Amino acid sequence: MMYRFLFGLCAIIVFGMSVTAQDYHSYANPSAVRVKHVDLDWRVLFDQKILKGSAVLTVERISQADPLILDTRDLKIEKVEISVDGATFVAGTFTLGASDKILGAPLTIPLPARATRVRIFYSTSPAASGLQWLEPAQTAGKQSPFLFTQSEAIHARSWIPLQDTPSVRITYTAHVRTPRNLLAVMSAENLSGPARDGDFRFRMQQPIPSYLIALAVGDLRFRKLGPRTGVYAEPHTIDLAARELSDTEKMVEATERLYGPYRWGRYDILVLPPSFPYGGMENPRLTFATPTILAGDKSLVSLVAHELAHSWSGNLVTNATWRDFWLNEGFTVYIERRILEAVYGRPREEMEAALGLRDLNEEIASLADRDEILHIDLKGRDPDDGSTDIPYEKGALFLRHLEETFGRARFDRFLKSYFNHFAFQSITTDQFVTYLKQNLLNENASLAAKIPVDEWINQPGIPATAPKPTSAAFGKVEEQARRWLDGMIPAAQIFTAKWTTQEWLHFLRFVSEPAVASSTTAGADRMRELDNAFHLTRSGNSEIAFQWLLMSIRNRYEPAYPRLEEFLLTIGRRKFIKPLYEELAKTPEGRERALAIYRRARPSYHPIAVTTIDDVLKWPSGQ
Ligand code: BES
Ligand code: ZN
Repeated sequence: MMYRFLFGLCAIIVFGMSVTAQDYHSYANPSAVRVKHVDLDWRVLFDQKILKGSAVLTVERISQADPLILDTRDLKIEKVEISVDGATFVAGTFTLGASDKILGAPLTIPLPARATRVRIFYSTSPAASGLQWLEPAQTAGKQSPFLFTQSEAIHARSWIPLQDTPSVRITYTAHVRTPRNLLAVMSAENLSGPARDGDFRFRMQQPIPSYLIALAVGDLRFRKLGPRTGVYAEPHTIDLAARELSDTEKMVEATERLYGPYRWGRYDILVLPPSFPYGGMENPRLTFATPTILAGDKSLVSLVAHELAHSWSGNLVTNATWRDFWLNEGFTVYIERRILEAVYGRPREEMEAALGLRDLNEEIASLADRDEILHIDLKGRDPDDGSTDIPYEKGALFLRHLEETFGRARFDRFLKSYFNHFAFQSITTDQFVTYLKQNLLNENASLAAKIPVDEWINQPGIPATAPKPTSAAFGKVEEQARRWLDGMIPAAQIFTAKWTTQEWLHFLRFVSEPAVASSTTAGADRMRELDNAFHLTRSGNSEIAFQWLLMSIRNRYEPAYPRLEEFLLTIGRRKFIKPLYEELAKTPEGRERALAIYRRARPSYHPIAVTTIDDVLKWPSGQ
């Protein structure tokens, strides 16, 4: 014990806090026993809504005395077996601790000397937080069931017993048995070819954190997009998806030019049913995406740029704990915009950055100080709650500040070397700051003095010297909007013909600013005028529809209510539905409507979305 204490103390002194940084969202003890590889074997049982099978964990023993401690949530552990020195498995023992609401339950497995492999037979629960089981009726094709996983942040433990901390990286294989005629895909290399014979094998040979393990099973089709890019979707959606995502290969090439080779082999995108709770998820080799990006005009493909960017920031260099989440998301938003600029030009980048800044400022107005800090303290909280605009937009703004101060060429070189230096490692904020100082800031003290690094990382708000991205195109939109708001022109004469989705979004947000918008009834009249001129209630663009519906609630614009109901009943993307329910819940009548809609929508929402909306509406748990 004393030895470990002294070792820990030395580690802190020698390397800084980083090496011993504690991930308090995991029960695991990787400094004593570290999982290196997992072999998974499951049957996908749609009728019972469970995965049933085994996980074989290969471990590295750092301290011989310690047991293996794994994370689990709602797993049924049947038995545990242990292999010593590579010999055949023999029965082992285990204890499953008490379950914490956020963390789940620790699974402790005593390890005899020289034991390096542990086989756990288990099944998942139908309510597993990381799985969504869809009935055929909830899919586009209506014929076959569908299953997909979502492991980030700490949901992998609800379908695999493992060390569910991003500080531990593993390789994996999987053997997946499904009903015939369905296709299984994973965040890994597919070893079994296209046959739909109900038997699939996968392999991921690069070490990844547990939150990047992913599986989907359904009636999927594949369409090639480029030499190493492609898209999977239900038959009903595949054509639209392939057209919309046809710039994917170009995006991969653009990112490689900036930050070095794409290291994961293939880059495919899986378009999921609309209940997918996120916009996208950067599962390696296979981004998972919401169908709500399929606008028909490629205007929402920034999401692909974002998830692709994670192939460098996040998947290659990974946040070691959820406190360091901004290292994943802030870097990724910054790179996303660099990709957009390279593929679609500077004006597009400017619009996205300006929209991001507006979001950030709005969110900061309502966040507590402690939640405005990049290196946030999430102790005792669900790490999913850390997913605000702070890690995303404040993080990206910090990198932009570095870029603008040191110059683009120098900063690009820095980032490229950062990805090479930490490739396939999980790092803390402290490690990043040390590397930043040694490889950029220290070489030019007068430039470095312009960047308040500690303020960026450890203080709330945005430093006064932060960049303020603007868009010339948005300036023109505002000019038009003012003329309309001042009564100089009717809505029909606003010059919208060439507006992109981003200009529409800016327009809608600009006219709803408190300083610009007037009283409620005048608001509803204005909404009607806009709707008559531009048919916004019927917009098929999910971002525009979302913004419009939010305004409709605020302004009590009743003609949009049926569309609002339809939107909430068919789409489960948290970023859309959470603000809509929140806005409804602000008035007693609105709350009644929200509850009536939610009662019907809830059974179709993903468990992660259900947790969020239950909380927004104070839904009695267990109902
Ligand atoms: N990795 C995130 C999704 C995520 C974050 C899942 C935290 C669970 C916990 C993904 O890359 C992401 O940021 N998605 C965004 C889209 C993006 C364009 C900003 C989303 O889903 O809205
Ligand atoms: Zn992201």
